[in-house]
Amino acid sequence: MNKDQLISQIETDFNKQFAIKPKLLTLTPGRINIIGEHTDYNEGLAMPVAIDRWICAAVCKCSDKTFTIYSQNYNENVVLIPHKQEKFKEVWKQLADSTLQIINAQFNIDSGVNMVIGGNIPIGCGLSSSSAFVISIVQSVCHLFKIQIKDRGLAELCQKIENNTLGTAGGRLDQYGIILSKKDQFMLIDFYHDSIEYISAVLKDCSWILINSKVYRELSESAYLQRVKECNEGLKILKNKFGISSFREIDGLMLESLKENSVVLYKRLCHLLDENQRVNDMKDKLQKGIVHEVGKILQASHESLKTLYEVSCAEIDYIIKISGNVTGWYGGRIIGGGFGGCSIHLVADKRIEYFINQLIINYRTEYNIIPEIMKIEFTGGLNQL
Ligand code: GLA
Repeated sequence: MNKDQLISQIETDFNKQFAIKPKLLTLTPGRINIIGEHTDYNEGLAMPVAIDRWICAAVCKCSDKTFTIYSQNYNENVVLIPHKQEKFKEVWKQLADSTLQIINAQFNIDSGVNMVIGGNIPIGCGLSSSSAFVISIVQSVCHLFKIQIKDRGLAELCQKIENNTLGTAGGRLDQYGIILSKKDQFMLIDFYHDSIEYISAVLKDCSWILINSKVYRELSESAYLQRVKECNEGLKILKNKFGISSFREIDGLMLESLKENSVVLYKRLCHLLDENQRVNDMKDKLQKGIVHEVGKILQASHESLKTLYEVSCAEIDYIIKISGNVTGWYGGRIIGGGFGGCSIHLVADKRIEYFINQLIINYRTEYNIIPEIMKIEFTGGLNQL
């Protein structure tokens, strides 16, 4: 489903559900991350960008105080009551309820809302569908009630909602990528200084391909929290040893000394330092347009996520391995929280068809799964659609 079809379906469904036209429509994109994985919650560097997959929401005010939301993806309604938080077993309902409770408490909204929401961002595979879902609700309700919240303020609020609801400890990679992206530009974010630099995403004669392994692991949330904990533990030890105060002050010698305390913590922080360096290297290679080097950095990142940070999985390691046999494949790596989901790949345009065929054949033979393969474009963040 493309953007126009998505919008028109949401409008039609709104009409069916509420027998009127929506007051306004919003679009919220998903995101990928070119490089800089598991660095956002460690004061590091990353390079996310919004992609041409969206959540579309249609809204209008209603006469009572309830919030009725129809999800097109789940073909289901939920009715939410302000100041009466409930427990839902479905994640989307839980997220919707928490989001509405928090914006209600913060902005004192005085009327109810009818909403239809749906999208074409594959769910639960590292493309930030849940962050986009929360942002979509917040931006729609805020527009409807003319509440001024945008950019970093919006990102901070949405990060808080998501972490509180899901019990995660994510940084702001997803929210910044979705909200602050610009068309055809990657954003180099420095989470320590909270600064952003935009870099041209245009590379000649090659394209970015996403492969959804269709592996979904329960493990991912607890293991993610475990990684956050490990990095903080590592930093604490180095703070005591060297009197430093941030991840960014760690140097090679300090890192080496961590081996005496724990090899696991050493490996986690080794990934962090190398990955920060890869973000800077990536900027350089992108600006020079050296696609082979861009690909090599992606591959080095995957190796590090696999062996040092240990957040990959056999299926995606296999995808990376067989991709390496295809001429015209420059590089690729697992993206997002890890343990499954998607990988991104940079492939020469004239080899895309062959690459896709090889992947489907091999992956199906090995795992009996047909992967979902998507060519993506970078169309801009919230205000750029
Ligand atoms: C998830 C989190 C992000 C980030 C990535 C890993 O997507 O939501 O904040 O930590 O994992 O880079």
